[in-house]
Amino acid sequence: MTDGQNVADESGAAGASFGRRREDRAARVVRVAAVGDFHCGEKDGGLYRDLFAKVNEEADVLLLAGDLTRRGIPAEVEVVLGELADVRVPILAVLGNHDHESGNVERVNDMLRARGVHLLDEAPFELNEHVGFAGVKGYMGGFGRYTLTAFGEQDTKQFVSTTLDEVQKLEYALRRLSTPVRVVLLHYAPIMETVMGEPEQIFPFLGNDRLVEPIDRFKAAVAFHGHAHHGTFSGTTPGGVPVFNVSMVRVREDAGLPMYYVHEIPLPVDAPAEHATEPGVEQPAGAAR
Ligand SMILES: [Fe+2]
Ligand SMILES: [Fe+2]
Repeated sequence: MTDGQNVADESGAAGASFGRRREDRAARVVRVAAVGDFHCGEKDGGLYRDLFAKVNEEADVLLLAGDLTRRGIPAEVEVVLGELADVRVPILAVLGNHDHESGNVERVNDMLRARGVHLLDEAPFELNEHVGFAGVKGYMGGFGRYTLTAFGEQDTKQFVSTTLDEVQKLEYALRRLSTPVRVVLLHYAPIMETVMGEPEQIFPFLGNDRLVEPIDRFKAAVAFHGHAHHGTFSGTTPGGVPVFNVSMVRVREDAGLPMYYVHEIPLPVDAPAEHATEPGVEQPAGAAR
């Protein structure tokens, strides 16, 4: 990833004011805010609204890493929408296991979509010509040599197949992005490093490192996930991609931030797109943030 050159130098505007240089810097990075696992309940209205509203000044896009609700019931989604009511930057989301709990996924998705939340599980998203986002919920199965394999009972094979389907969906979404910078959003963890701190007995239920293969192969700039509330805030894939566990508890306790973590991604200078665009990649009208 190339660090952006000083735009004042490129434009020949020597001696630009500090304010101008700040604007130039802002133009050379994309600020990605991310949080998951705030688990809104029916009585949580107003708990996060003011904190989320600050994202308009602090970031260019807000990523929600799943477990927006406790049980995925419509009344809880109404609360989530209320908490997000003042957010004006694009909101991109994946659901978590808690959002599936009541079997209302379609209703949950409809409500979020109606608010303008972009569901990455349905299609990747290009914020501008530089930065695109791919995301899936992911699934569990464990890490390293102890990853569950598709052997034995049909139920076990189905379980592993669910993970592999998520990996393939992520791969396809990354391939559809035409942007040189790609960001990945998951609910389940793609590496073991960011679940460390949780009881070792539940590691297999917190993620699966099969998810890391497309992240590394497509050289994502950064990946975010949630779910491991008591894991570790940051880690790195074998290919060197930074990974952040943005479960709200980790954002608060490890990063010391009130609601979301903001990751600055330097924009490449005239970086060519490495992958051809395919139909269906949503782009905001006139977006060039
Ligand atoms: Fe959670
Ligand atoms: Fe979860």
